[in-house]
Order: sequence, then C-alpha cells, then structure tokens
Amino acid sequence: MNPGTHGPEVTMIHLPHNEVIPVLDFGSQYAQLIARRVREAGAFSVLVAPDTPLETLAELKPKGIILSGGPASVYEDGAPRCDERLFELGVPVLGICYGMQLACQLLGAQVDPAKSREYGRANLHITDHCDLLHGVPEQTSVWMSHGDQLSDSGNDFDVLATTPTCPFAAVRHKTQPFFGVQFHPEVTHTPHGVDILHNFLYQICGCTDTWRMSDFMQQQVTAIREAVGDARVICGLSGGVDSSVVAALLSKAIGRQLTCIFVDNGLLRKNERDLVEHTFRGHFDVDLRVIDAEAQFLGDLTDISDPQEKRRRIGHRFIDVFKEASSDIENVKYLAQGTLYPDVIESGQSLAGTAANIKLHHNVGGLPAELGFDLIEPLRDLFKDEVRRLGEVLGLPESMVWRHPFPGPGLAVRVMGDITKPKLDLLRDCDEILLEEIVANNLYRSTSQVFAVLTNTQAVGVMGDGRTYESVIAIRAVETQDFMTADWARIPYDVLATISNRIINEVRGVNRVVYDISSKPPATIEWE
Ligand code: XMP
Repeated sequence: MNPGTHGPEVTMIHLPHNEVIPVLDFGSQYAQLIARRVREAGAFSVLVAPDTPLETLAELKPKGIILSGGPASVYEDGAPRCDERLFELGVPVLGICYGMQLACQLLGAQVDPAKSREYGRANLHITDHCDLLHGVPEQTSVWMSHGDQLSDSGNDFDVLATTPTCPFAAVRHKTQPFFGVQFHPEVTHTPHGVDILHNFLYQICGCTDTWRMSDFMQQQVTAIREAVGDARVICGLSGGVDSSVVAALLSKAIGRQLTCIFVDNGLLRKNERDLVEHTFRGHFDVDLRVIDAEAQFLGDLTDISDPQEKRRRIGHRFIDVFKEASSDIENVKYLAQGTLYPDVIESGQSLAGTAANIKLHHNVGGLPAELGFDLIEPLRDLFKDEVRRLGEVLGLPESMVWRHPFPGPGLAVRVMGDITKPKLDLLRDCDEILLEEIVANNLYRSTSQVFAVLTNTQAVGVMGDGRTYESVIAIRAVETQDFMTADWARIPYDVLATISNRIINEVRGVNRVVYDISSKPPATIEWE
C-alpha cells in the first residue's frame, strides 16, 4: 500500500473515550488489523495519519501510541515520518516493523538493510520477560516481513528478544517509554501476538479494559450529532447489514432528521421489501421512503445480457432514482453510507479517519460525489464482524444482523442472459425454498452466502408420463472469511436432496437442480 495515498480532508471530531490508542498508519497492509486487535483486547483504537501533529494527538488524550509497519525504508527520501516530537507526549509507544525502525532512528539508533531479509515465520528467542514479553514462552514463533533492521542500538536500548538473523527483534528504550518489535504481533501467525499487545495495553499503558462496542456506538452518536447540527441526512437503505447498521446508528443519533430511501428495483429477493419496511418501521422511528422503480429498472434491462452492461445500467438508474427521491427533502447536507474498512482497502486508500469519519465529497463505492452531499461513513474503521456486533448493540434483529450479503445489482446477475419478470419470479421462488431449507437445517450461520442461479440452459426431463424441457437451476453456497477467496460449502447430501426435490416439485418451469462445486478463485462467487 502506498503511504502517500492518505485520504482527503477529514473533519476531526474529538473522541470522548479516555482510553484511546491511536495507530499511526505508515501504510502497512496490517495497520487496521492492529487497531482491531486493540479493540478486541478492550481498548479503543483508530488509525490516524502518520504525520498527525503532536497537538492533534494530544487532543485524543492517548493512553499509548502504536506505530504501524509500512513498505518504505526509513533512510529513503520521502519515507513517511511521524511528528519528531512524539516522545514529548510522555505516553508509551510501541513501534512495529517500520514503526520500530522509525522510532529507533528518532531515538538515535542506526537502521540499515538486513544482511538476510526475513519473510514469514521466524523463531523468536526471548531474553527479557519483564514487561512487553511477559508470559510469552522463551522460544516462540513470530511473523516477520522486513528487509531493513536495527543494526546499531547505540547502547540506548535493552534487547528483549532475538531471532537467528535479527539481533534486535524486540527492544525497550532505557529511558523513554518506547518498545519496538521487528515482527508482527497483530497477525495470527504470531501465536502470542495477542498476549504481547495485551501486555502493552495493560502492563505498560495502564489501560483498564473498559472499551466495548456500546462505547463506540455512543461515541459515534455524539460525534454525528455534533457534526450534523440541525441539517438533514439521507441514507440509501439496501436491506444489507452495512446500510442497515448505518441507518440504525443515524436514527439513534438524530432521529427524524434522517430520511432513509429504499429503492425497490424489482431485482430483490422475495419479501425483501416487506422485511426492510417492517424492520425499520417496527424498530426505529425513521422517515423511510420506499420507491417503487421496478418498471424503470426492468425497462432498462430489456434484452440486455452482458453482465457488465447490466451493472452499468442498474448503477445509472439507481443514481437517477435516488436523486429524484432526495430532491424534495429540504436542508439535506449529508449522505450516510455503510463503507467498511475492507471497501476502503480494496479501493486502494490508506486511511486516517477518526470518530464520525465525515469526509467531504469523497467516495469509495457508493453514490457519486455529484450528488453534492458530504459523506458520513461511521463504519469506515470497522471490519464486517465488528459491524454485526454494532448492529446487535443497536438492537437490530438477528435476522438482519446476520444476513448473507446480497449484491447491489441483485437478481440481475443471477438470471443468466437477458432478464424478464417471469424469470425473476421463478428465481425468487427457487431462492426462497433454498433459504428456507438452509435455515431449517441450521446451515445459515455456518455458510457465508447461499443463493440460486437461473441458468440460461434448458434440459430434458420426464414428469409423470411426459417429456419436459425446462430450466436448470444452480445452487451456490460458499464459505469465506473475506469474500476475496471462497470455498464451496459441503452442504450435506440429504439437505441438497431436499432442496432439489422441493424446487423441482414446487416451482413450475424447473426440472433440474445442479450444485456448484467451484472455489474462488478461479470462479467468482456470483455467476455474472
Ligand atoms: P464475486 O462474484 O466477485 O463476489 O466473487 C464477491 C462478493 O461481492 C458481491 N458482489 C457484488 N456486490 N455489487 C455489489 O454490491 C456488485 O456488482 C457485486 N458483484 C458481486 C457478491 O455477492 C459477493 O458477496
């Protein structure tokens, strides 16, 4: 990741929590993971820009600071730096990989290219168990990924651990509250990494284990209220977890100053619209506008079979419908979006957001800047499972919080080839049966995404005494952590048999069901 791509303007909003551990993001692919591990350990953490001035850091009242890794070399021109007065804050600092090298350099040590670079697992030998490495076995494995390392510590550092090729694998400064580790405690390949972070937070920084997701919710509510004032906010509700959680959070913060817009594009699952309406009207006092735009969307898709063209047309129509729906709402200043941290990473941005994450005309994946609203993206620092926890804290029903993802273009990319309403209806019926059986057999939570696809193949069959020539339905069920790679789910044969029987018996026009046993890659999760 390029450390030069830190996001555009961010309205800094004071974090009301008093145990903040900011992570200075030097562009490591693991930076957000560090913040997440700290949150899991019970202290609040967010990423901030690497060069955040001392005064701004001081405003956060940090209990400690972590410097992340990064791809640059500290001795290169233009390598990202932190505020050189960092240690004037007097709070403990933990440097990881690049962050260690940078801080050590600031404190007078020498950093050079390592004689042998270390990537992957390395054996750590611990020589000092006093504080940072307390309770960690003397020999343990750690994950390394570095080309540079500390070559001369100038007698200012105590060595806490070594590896066969890295004499300063973990260090402590003799007079400043600084600790450095050359390895990555935040990744699961470092089995005692969590213990090491825990030691930093509780033994060294003096955190008291008080942060919970409910604190994050409260913090965001306060920050959103302050930022929004008496303006109105609109939020596109899709029925998915992310937009539902954003809507619930905004609703808690600003009540009826929020207008949610749900577009029924005719490409939704069966009963989807009712479910969204019931959930939001039932649980929240929200101004929800449901726009019926089926005719426009299906009109745009007539005779279109190219998947990318389907997506393009759906995207354009969505913007037009959304614009029109929002045009008669007065005093709208903000658009709330459910952008998550993985979306930010996929779009190639490193980030430096805090609190309410209100960004000006800056967009990752949702509606375009041309709508003219400033964005509120309160989930930008969170991973999917953290968003689900937030949803639970906000009181969203389990059926909403644990939903499988559903693509923006909806069933349009699950009807192969051209789209018609009868084909969509047929697919909706099959999909409903499939999900009923997945839920009834307790497989919904153990699978990541399950859906039916209407192939554009007709097959010969026999029903009663007659020959049939009808559609083939494919079942797709995958397990995945991040949706970037996925494996097909090993659904028990008996369950597959019931699904197949029910679909063929109950849905007219289907005489064959096949199960997709392709992993991603090389296949994708969706068929189009
Ligand atoms: P693929 O098919 O790329 O899907 O393996 C990965 C995840 O992304 C979802 N997906 C989409 N979501 N608009 C979306 O909002 C899209 O165009 C789109 N295409 C795929 C897919 O359902 C899966 O969860």
